Amino acid sequence: MSALRARVVHAVTLGFAGASLLLTSVAQAAPVVVRGFEAETMTNARTVPSASASAGAAVTLRGRGLTQRVTLLASRKVRVTLKRGRSRSARMRLRIDGRRPFIITPRSRSWHTSTIKVSLGAGRHTIRLRSVRLPPGSSARAAPRVDRVAFLPVDPARRVLLGTALRSQNPAANPAFAITRDPRYAATFLKNFDSLTPENELKMEHIEPSPGRFTFAYADSLVAFATAHGKAVRGHALVITSSQLSRWLTKPRVPWTRNSLLAVMRRYITTVMNRYRGTIRAWDVVNEAFWDNGSYRQNIWYDVIGRDWIEQAFRIARAVDPRATLVYNDIASETSGAQQDAIYAMAKDFRNRGVPLDAIGLQNHTGLGGYADQLVLERTLARFASLGLGTEITEMDIVTQSGTGSEARKASDQAIGYRNAATACWDIAGCTSLTTWGVSDAVTWVGGDQAPLLFDADFRPKPAFNAVQAALQRTRP
Ligand code: XIL
Repeated sequence: MSALRARVVHAVTLGFAGASLLLTSVAQAAPVVVRGFEAETMTNARTVPSASASAGAAVTLRGRGLTQRVTLLASRKVRVTLKRGRSRSARMRLRIDGRRPFIITPRSRSWHTSTIKVSLGAGRHTIRLRSVRLPPGSSARAAPRVDRVAFLPVDPARRVLLGTALRSQNPAANPAFAITRDPRYAATFLKNFDSLTPENELKMEHIEPSPGRFTFAYADSLVAFATAHGKAVRGHALVITSSQLSRWLTKPRVPWTRNSLLAVMRRYITTVMNRYRGTIRAWDVVNEAFWDNGSYRQNIWYDVIGRDWIEQAFRIARAVDPRATLVYNDIASETSGAQQDAIYAMAKDFRNRGVPLDAIGLQNHTGLGGYADQLVLERTLARFASLGLGTEITEMDIVTQSGTGSEARKASDQAIGYRNAATACWDIAGCTSLTTWGVSDAVTWVGGDQAPLLFDADFRPKPAFNAVQAALQRTRP
């Protein structure tokens, strides 16, 4: 088993593979260890079917509750997936190895997680769960339910990069370039982020404004800036479907044929990847190829080349730079649905046929009232990890105008949305980075009044930034 494969197994078991025992091995030769348990496996407890639970069943905590013996890696968090029964007063009590118990308050009647910090050495432990404060004589429906208990191991090497989109001072490639001259813009990036994604500078309309004429000045300036400060660069994006394609490509004087358009694609990918070989190590090779109903997004590549246009792009990219991480990136596919299913089906087919693909990028542009739950995101990340793929959150922002209440309330709601994504990425192995689509509310594609980012318009950290720092276990600043 390769190291990557081992990490992926970890992700799947921590995710929702539906296995009856969460078994994994963490390194090639490491012993198999239990990482947690599903309700289905709990020995002395009555399980009840629950379609919404992670493997189809849950346990109602009644009477003496349940006891489970597990062999663990050294762990620093226990995560219980639970929900309230009819009783509002009932609590869940978790006791490990006879130590002082934790009392968990179920927060709602739908599944959610409660995470408790612990310090457990590697080895065997006894976990006891029961209800407390259940009104006497109450029925089974009153009691809290538990779906799964997972243990998050100490992984000293775990690191998730925090990235951001950045703009150069190119007025053409940058709708709000003046702000980029504010020294706080670069300073905030340098102090708080590990990686940058050129927001527009690597898109075709700027790179190849006329056929065969490549202009790299502004992309070069961003890449040089990153390199000079030891920051990573994500390449965004080689083959795009949006309005930022060059006009000569979308409105050709002589109609394209499959072969002539494939030649344009090959020349483009080859020229751009070669220029940044060894510097840009991860590329969004194809960006936004599906509609939200799961059908192929209509665009020039699809229209002329046909449905294998995506595969062609990935094959070319691998041949040009075999060491680069090749990413498929799309919008609005964080939650389950037809679009995510289409991407999953494509990725699975690529894996089966050996079409090169290394990771899935989830843009995660979202808003208050609409951002994904942590569990939903974990399920998505684990789903792609189960194919042996890495994952990244590539363009996150949370617009706030859809929210309600005071500004402070919106800011803390936004922090929860960011925390959900950061925690999910941290917890599911194979998720390597979380990138926000801009540094501060002063420079954002959705408009500053939406306040979608981690720093405010005066470059002060918002609650969302602190939430991300904590979730990614970062100590700076
Ligand atoms: C956006 C930029 O942020 C804007 O400045 C530009 O005008 C349009 O493109 N999904 C993507 C990004 O993959 O490239 C888009 O970036 C945002 C949505």
